[in-house]
Amino acid sequence: MKIAVAGTGYVGLVTGVCLASKGHGVTCVDVDEQKVEVMKQGVSPIYEPGLSELMKESMDHLTFTTDYESAYKDADVIFIGVGTPEKVDGSANLAFVYQVAKQIAASVQKDCVVVIKSTVPIGTNDKIESYIHDKQKHNVSVYVASNPEFLSQGTAVKDTLHASRIVIGADEEKPAEILKKVYQDFDAPKLVVGRRSAEMIKYASNDFLALKISYVNEIANLCETVGADVEEVTMGMGYDSRIGDRFLNAGIGYGGSCFPKDTKALSWLASFNDNEIRTIKAAIEVNDSQKFKLVKKARKYYDDFLFLNIAILGCTFKPGTDDLREAPSLVNVPLLLEDGAYLRIWDPVGQDNFKKQIQNKNIQYFDTIEEAIDGADLCLIFTEWDDVVKFDITKYEELMKTPIVLDGRNCYPLSAFEGTKTTYCSIGRKTVNDR
Ligand code: UGA
Repeated sequence: MKIAVAGTGYVGLVTGVCLASKGHGVTCVDVDEQKVEVMKQGVSPIYEPGLSELMKESMDHLTFTTDYESAYKDADVIFIGVGTPEKVDGSANLAFVYQVAKQIAASVQKDCVVVIKSTVPIGTNDKIESYIHDKQKHNVSVYVASNPEFLSQGTAVKDTLHASRIVIGADEEKPAEILKKVYQDFDAPKLVVGRRSAEMIKYASNDFLALKISYVNEIANLCETVGADVEEVTMGMGYDSRIGDRFLNAGIGYGGSCFPKDTKALSWLASFNDNEIRTIKAAIEVNDSQKFKLVKKARKYYDDFLFLNIAILGCTFKPGTDDLREAPSLVNVPLLLEDGAYLRIWDPVGQDNFKKQIQNKNIQYFDTIEEAIDGADLCLIFTEWDDVVKFDITKYEELMKTPIVLDGRNCYPLSAFEGTKTTYCSIGRKTVNDR
């Protein structure tokens, strides 16, 4: 099938590459000429495990262009995978989606299905369909279908090729049949539902996961007060298949481009329709304060951070990505700098992006964890990178001036620090070697 994909961010590019790997002829469209030139060379502009390799293997079926007209005019299916960022009031900004819809309306010369993959408020598919029908230049049949994305950054290729489910939101049989054909070689359950339900499945799924994390973070905070251990608690909970054992990792809150945005968007949508979605509002509130948990804990050890050398391990919102959006590091680093601390930052792939966001003469970057913690008065772990998890913990004591490790991602078993001189304080668990 001849497929066009609008937008080459995480969703668009991964979708395009995975569809091409199944033999479809895919043209990826982006407005950024520089990015398109890079992709034409078979190079992925984003860091995503497995993506570069699959892209290289599938180059025979992939075209990259800024010329949307040539990509859309005779496509059988056009995926829209552009961003829907958060507006100041928390609602979703649909400007990019409408811009693509306008280009589609001006370009299509053949019957086609426009598939909205971007996360959009419930009812958007209906509006986009009317918009295209109103504006289309040629008299052809354009159907609009919803096909929400469930990939996670860091495992995006695997999540797309081996999806938990493929949701097809279509109000007519024809677009549903065409989408089933597009995905015929994908080994995943395919669910055909109404368009509004498909749009809601996306928000309800993401917000449920965010809620689960905020819930477990509150349980963790309480565990600290009452002397329970959150890892033991979640292990006990996880055996119950009704609860499940995933997404129960306590920490310093969720970040990324999805949970923070999608919780606020659903909450906005609910109140706009005179409905309050109180559980999600609570999840947002809990997450906002959880992000500051480590710095709050640090104040127990130091009255202020003036002239302290603080090692920061990890700045991305999670491992396996160079993405910093809504990462806890972004709100904590300015706080520490304001207090006069010297920061020694290590992150295996996020450093360049971090440098673009926060410039300060009191920040130094290091290539190894050893260098970052050398002589430090305090070490804060914001991301559970494998290098951190597998790090020889005796080095904290050996290299730091004062070995105090505050771990926002529970990277180590408590037993690892027993018998050492390192103070190890994590989330929802007792502090080892407290001082
Ligand atoms: C999320 C969803 O997991 C995907 O299913 C969805 O498709 C995607 O959003 C999207 O809407 O595009 P993603 O944001 O890439 O994926 O990352 P997650 O792995 O879900 O992690 C999000 C945040 O939650 C991270 O900051 C992570 O550290 C945190 N988290 C996750 C926890 O604090 N505890 C957990 O147990 C799991």
